[in-house]
Amino acid sequence: MPRHFNTAGPNRVEMHYTLSALARLPEVHRLVEAEAWFVLHAPRQVGKTTAMRALAQELTASGNYAALWATCEAGEPYRDDPGAAERIVVADILRKAETYLPAELRPEPPPVGASAGNLLSDFIHQWCRNCPRPVVLLLDEIDALQNDALISVLRQLRGLYAERPRAAPSTVALIGLRDVRDYKVAAGRSPHLGTASPFNVKAESMTMAGFSASDVAALYGQHK
Ligand SMILES: Nc1ncnc2c1ncn2[C@@H]1O[C@H](COP(=O)(O)OP(=O)(O)OP(=O)(O)O)[C@@H](O)[C@H]1O
Ligand SMILES: [Mg+2]
Repeated sequence: MPRHFNTAGPNRVEMHYTLSALARLPEVHRLVEAEAWFVLHAPRQVGKTTAMRALAQELTASGNYAALWATCEAGEPYRDDPGAAERIVVADILRKAETYLPAELRPEPPPVGASAGNLLSDFIHQWCRNCPRPVVLLLDEIDALQNDALISVLRQLRGLYAERPRAAPSTVALIGLRDVRDYKVAAGRSPHLGTASPFNVKAESMTMAGFSASDVAALYGQHK
């Protein structure tokens, strides 16, 4: 089928007229090379997922990284059940790795009975220790997680930071609608996580602009 315009979900370059996703985020390579952890936040339908999937594909294809895009989306109903939420995140990382990473770069499933509260961090730690390349983990829809589920995931990630790149991802990116300091916790507690947040290891928060008139013109220009 010839390439066509897409408005339903992330673009696939081989199927859809697509603007270079990475040209839209020129600073991202510098962050990855600096082993920085970062946040990418922007409104819906701006192209976050398309850009991050392209980044993962490009970094893995470079031969220098094991880069994976995964999503926390299915953890949304488990905001007060951190154990369930972290299992869902681990399951999505495993599933995406099976599809998008060569076998030697994939993580092992966590051991049966691994303890809640450390499951995610133990799993990532083990993956990074065994992986022959630095791991880059791009976690989408982070703000589907809220309350204790979000705090647990952020704290487990932050706990790994000092061990990068041998036993932790050289880069973790959290992708969502809000900046990390605006992530919500339940009413009755602090209305947000505050600046001393469980993800204060981030080097940068960046955002993506919506499509400009010249972006749209360039996209139309791909239709011959
Ligand atoms: N690089 C691109 N070139 C052309 N169109 C794009 C590009 N990236 C995204 N789009 C358009 O924007 C739509 C949304 O893309 P994508 O799902 O990547 O955005 P998103 O910011 O992750 O959205 P959401 O927050 O809803 O998950 C796509 O369906 C497509 O129409
Ligand atoms: Mg998206």
